Amino acid sequence: MNTLDTLLSRRSIPAQCLTGPGPNEAQLNAAFEAAMRAPDHGRMQPWRFRLMRGAARARFAEMLVACARARDPATPAAQLEKMRSRPQQVPLVIAVSARIRDNPKVPDIEQLLATAASVMNLLNALHAQGFGAILLTGPSVYDPAVATALGCEAGERLVGFVYVGTVGVVTPTAPARPASAAFVSEWSGTD
Ligand SMILES: Cc1cc2nc3c(=O)[nH]c(=O)nc-3n(C[C@H](O)[C@H](O)[C@H](O)COP(=O)(O)O)c2cc1C
Repeated sequence: MNTLDTLLSRRSIPAQCLTGPGPNEAQLNAAFEAAMRAPDHGRMQPWRFRLMRGAARARFAEMLVACARARDPATPAAQLEKMRSRPQQVPLVIAVSARIRDNPKVPDIEQLLATAASVMNLLNALHAQGFGAILLTGPSVYDPAVATALGCEAGERLVGFVYVGTVGVVTPTAPARPASAAFVSEWSGTD
């Protein structure tokens, strides 16, 4: 695939449609190198990626469940079960966070934007190598207890979890993409 074909064919794959194998070390490394090419005002390099593979996925899932229970003891059992099983259905989960540091020239929002751009490059690089992935958030991502359990330091905030794997046989239809023209306009500066 050429670069444009890669960009135009990427789509998110629901976690339940992902299976093994996950990317090998060389493929993962290429994806993270691509993530490092995100535009980054002030070279803050705010992005951090924590990999959950193998047995760590079950520990990650149990941690999410424990934090959800602590947030709301009445969390429905079915919701907890989904939280427990989902990370273990895929070969790799990547927790993405942003280390936001004070910089008079680079507001926090720009550091978050740089991290988001790194996720986009990561998703595209995984897709370019034949893998499926999806960025998921939800209340866990905004729970300080989850960030602490993952080892985030002060000023570091979770951005989302990228679920990665091989695209399974059953995948839902790709979402319709509206024509870009509706989102693009010309500004001429004249009335
Ligand atoms: C910041 C962010 C958080 C997201 N969180 C969720 C989520 O928690 N659950 C979900 O189903 N989709 C979530 N999505 C959407 C999916 O990642 C994905 O973009 C969506 O399913 C559309 O698929 P597409 O990427 O092929 O257009 C999130 C997207 C972004 C940008």
